[in-house]
Amino acid sequence: MDCQEALTTRRGVLRYDPRPVEPELIEQVLAAAVAAPSPANLQPWAFVVVTEPELAVRTARYLLDVQDRRVFQEFLGLRPEETGRYIGLYDLFENAPCFIVVCNEPKARFALPEHEGVLRDWTLMCLGAATANLMAAATALGLGTRWFGGFALDGGGSTLKELLGIPDAVEIAAVTPLGYPADDAPIRPRRPQARAELAAFGRGDPPALASLLRGKLPLDEVVHRNKWNL
Ligand SMILES: Cc1cc2nc3c(=O)[nH]c(=O)nc-3n(C[C@H](O)[C@H](O)[C@H](O)COP(=O)(O)O)c2cc1C
Repeated sequence: MDCQEALTTRRGVLRYDPRPVEPELIEQVLAAAVAAPSPANLQPWAFVVVTEPELAVRTARYLLDVQDRRVFQEFLGLRPEETGRYIGLYDLFENAPCFIVVCNEPKARFALPEHEGVLRDWTLMCLGAATANLMAAATALGLGTRWFGGFALDGGGSTLKELLGIPDAVEIAAVTPLGYPADDAPIRPRRPQARAELAAFGRGDPPALASLLRGKLPLDEVVHRNKWNL
């Protein structure tokens, strides 16, 4: 699979086969992650690769709990009785044999106080780039991933940090399962989405949420040629 295909066919995978991921494939996705650009080449990333089965299940359960309470109920405003049908989409999530926790481990502290904010923005961007690289590489290898950020609504994932022994000075930036998708359903093309659909999306709106997640704005909605066209 070439790069273009890996990037455009990637989908967030919620249902996993329990089959372990071969260690050499895990190394390949990590190599893709650290190939990302970073400000002044500071490489602020560190990765916790969770393959020990008990730890992996506890990581999965933590992410599902956060998804229900923090993301669906608090952030998106769904009523507790409404979240079940969405949590149902994660029914084989606990099968995921591996999780990769992408961490922010600053390795230099040279910034002037007035540059700290910019450096933090740049740091988060490059951690995102590393995560995206990792996910694209995984797709190319036939593996599934799903970017999780909901822990940020739950004390920065302090429960997960404690579980995995991540030091206080290190932040979690993103978490993804890594594993073989549970079924080989064909990858359906994205539904073209209207900008109005995003603008209309509100908290506590389950049908809108379901369709929102399946669409993508067409290129013409987000690409301006030469000058910003209104
Ligand atoms: C910063 C960030 C945080 C995310 N957090 C979550 C999350 O907590 N739970 C989840 O199920 N998906 C999460 N996602 C995945 C998005 O919901 C998903 O990428 C989006 O719906 C598009 O679907 P796709 O990944 O299949 O293209 C997150 C994605 C990003 C980039």
